[in-house]
This record gives sequence, structure tokens and C-alpha cells, in this order.
Amino acid sequence: MADNTRLGLAKNAKRDEFYTQYSDIEAEMNAYVEYNPDVFRNKTILLPCDDPEWSNFTKYFANNFERFGLKKLISTSFAKGSGNLQLTLFEMESPLYDEELHDTHGKLFTLTHDTNGSGSIDSDDIEFSGYLKGDGDFRSDEVRALRDESDLIITNPPFSLFREFLCWIMEADKKFIIVANQNAITYKEVFPLLKENKMWLGQGFKSNVGYFSAPMYEDYATAGQHKEGYIRVSGVMWFTNIDLSKRHKFLEMDTLEHNLKYNKKLRKKLESEYGIIEYPHYDNYNAIEVPFTECIPSNYNGVMGVPITFMDKYNPEQFEIVWQASGNTRASAPKSVLKELNYTKHDEDRGGCSVVHGKRTYGRILIRLKKGV
Ligand SMILES: C[S@@+](CC[C@H](N)C(=O)[O-])C[C@H]1O[C@@H](n2cnc3c(N)ncnc32)[C@H](O)[C@@H]1O
Repeated sequence: MADNTRLGLAKNAKRDEFYTQYSDIEAEMNAYVEYNPDVFRNKTILLPCDDPEWSNFTKYFANNFERFGLKKLISTSFAKGSGNLQLTLFEMESPLYDEELHDTHGKLFTLTHDTNGSGSIDSDDIEFSGYLKGDGDFRSDEVRALRDESDLIITNPPFSLFREFLCWIMEADKKFIIVANQNAITYKEVFPLLKENKMWLGQGFKSNVGYFSAPMYEDYATAGQHKEGYIRVSGVMWFTNIDLSKRHKFLEMDTLEHNLKYNKKLRKKLESEYGIIEYPHYDNYNAIEVPFTECIPSNYNGVMGVPITFMDKYNPEQFEIVWQASGNTRASAPKSVLKELNYTKHDEDRGGCSVVHGKRTYGRILIRLKKGV
């Protein structure tokens, strides 16, 4: 089964159970701290769906509490999650421990100060602050109140509820760093935020492939790609609205003529797909097809359709996002944009996909170079 198919199984709530590695969290957070060493200073961070017993998010931020100058760390767990069934020492050794509530209620953990007199604040100082009234669903009033109290929301949320989770963050206007499936780029709740630069992609997993600890999954990765105890998931990214160096990096480009003459990958693709070595024009949009991000020409001033993975290289100082061309985007596109793109319905376009010579392409982001760059 393909990686993405397996990830699709996360639609089943039970399959939301896969856990992020400490090293991946560390690598991602390093990017924000390198860009702004005070990014977390005096901040309250909420880690929803993150019981400290198994969540590396809680462990990571507890271990870096002093270095980051955090004000408060709040971590909640979801009763229906399998990780929640484990009994944490934090919980068991607390006078608030209640065997009956353990299985059915979410839990609240906080870290604010040195509780054991060790002279430093770390994961040993995490306090079990009691059971939540409900199961710890992020949509409950009580977790909403914790969200409102916090400055930042950081987690790998349930993929099956990703749209809702992002709206839940945006409605409270919070800063966030969260893991997502790359397909989320095209969601109608997500894409406009990317286009308007209200959110962007974080540093990311190496080649957009993540290895997650996942007791409920079977790993189908090939022997060479398998890592014992983990599942391999392709197409995973971090979404954020916190600045980092990556989004200020300019993509290196060659001219259209240079690419067509020297880029072997592009030549092969154009030759085999269309039988002619030129950037094809879409049948239904006034834009050209650029099948690889590395082949975006530096001297084309019109609109270009690029793969959605372009978002990983997107620098808003260099490019403008006009819209997207993927399944059903016509319905959510402002009329003025469709007019600007000279969009015409095509029998093959399934609600807005770009079409070349009568054949639908993969989902595309429609971009243009910024003037004077
Ligand atoms: C992809 S896992 C990630 C867990 C953890 N954040 C990590 O990265 O290691 C998502 C977690 O969200 C929990 N979850 C599912 N639905 C939830 C909900 N409605 N509210 C809060 N948490 C939920 C699941 O139980 C699961 O443990």
C-alpha cells in the first residue's frame, strides 16, 4: 500500500495514533530559534493531544523550558487516544490520581517552575494538574479556554480533524507550529491562508518523509527504507505562522530558454508527455505548465502552474500566488481571479484542474514572479 494511502487511513480516528520523534521536533524548533532566539521567551505554549508519558513535544519543551525562557507549558491528553491508556508516573504519584477517571477523561499537565528543588526546570517538574471535565477534545470549552490562555499551539494534531484543528487555531488568532499532510495545501480552508501569507511551510522533514512511532500501524516501507519501530510516511510537512530563514531564501532560477535547452529532466518530460520541447499552455487557464519547481523560468512574466511542493520553496518576496488549479477549486475561487486567469470550463478539469492538450495535470499552484525581483 502506498504511503499516502496509509496516511489516508488516518481518517479513521483510531488511526490518528502516530507519534512524532524527538529529533524531528528538535530540528523543526531549531529553525525558529535560529531565526529569532527569543521566539518562545515569556510565552505560554499549549501542546494539545500530548500526554507527557509518550509525547516528545512535552518532553522537548520541558527540557528546553529554561533555555527558551518559557513562561508556562500546558499539555493535555485525549482520553480516546491509545497513548492515554498508559498510566503516567506524573498522574499515578499525584494525590489527584483517580483510577475511574483515568480511562475516560482527558488530563492536564502544567510546567511553570522548579517543583523539586533541583535548581533547574525540566521534565521532572511537570505537574499533573488533574482530569479535564471531558475527554480532552480540542473542541471542548475547557481546552478552548486553555488555547485562549496560550500564545502558541504546537503539536502533531489528529490528521482526520486537520481542517477543524487549523480553524480552531485561526479563530483564536494564535501562533502555531503543527504537522500536516502535504495534501492539506490544497484544502479550501488552508490554501487561502497560504496565498495571503497568513501561514507558510516550516523547515520540514527531510524530503518530506517522516518516521513516526505508531503501535497501531504496520509499516509497508521497503526493506531499505524501513526503520524498526516506526512507520514511514511521505508527504508530511510543518505548517506555521512563525517566521524562519527558509521563507526568505530566494529560489535560484534559469531562463526559459536555458531550461528548455539544458534541463534533461524537463526535456524528457516535455518530449514524452507532449512531443514538443516547450512549456505548454493550459487549455483552460491563461498560464503555462511548469512540471518541476526547479524549472520555473526566471524571465516569464505571465502566470505559471507549478507542483504543490513548490510551497516548500515559496518566498513571498520573490513570488505571488495567484490561485490554485486542483480538484474543485473553481467553486471556491473568487470570480475576479477566474476572470484574470481567463478560466474556461473544460470537460476534463474536474472542477478546476489544469488541462494540457485535453489531459488533466496533477494539482498545481498558479504563481507569478514579483516585479523587479
Ligand atoms: C497524530 S497523533 C500525534 C500525537 C502527538 N501530538 C505526537 O505528535 O506525538 C494525534 C493525537 O491526537 C489525538 N486526538 C484525536 N482526536 C482528538 C481530539 N478530538 N481532540 C484532541 N486530541 C485528539 C489522538 O488520540 C492522537 O494521539
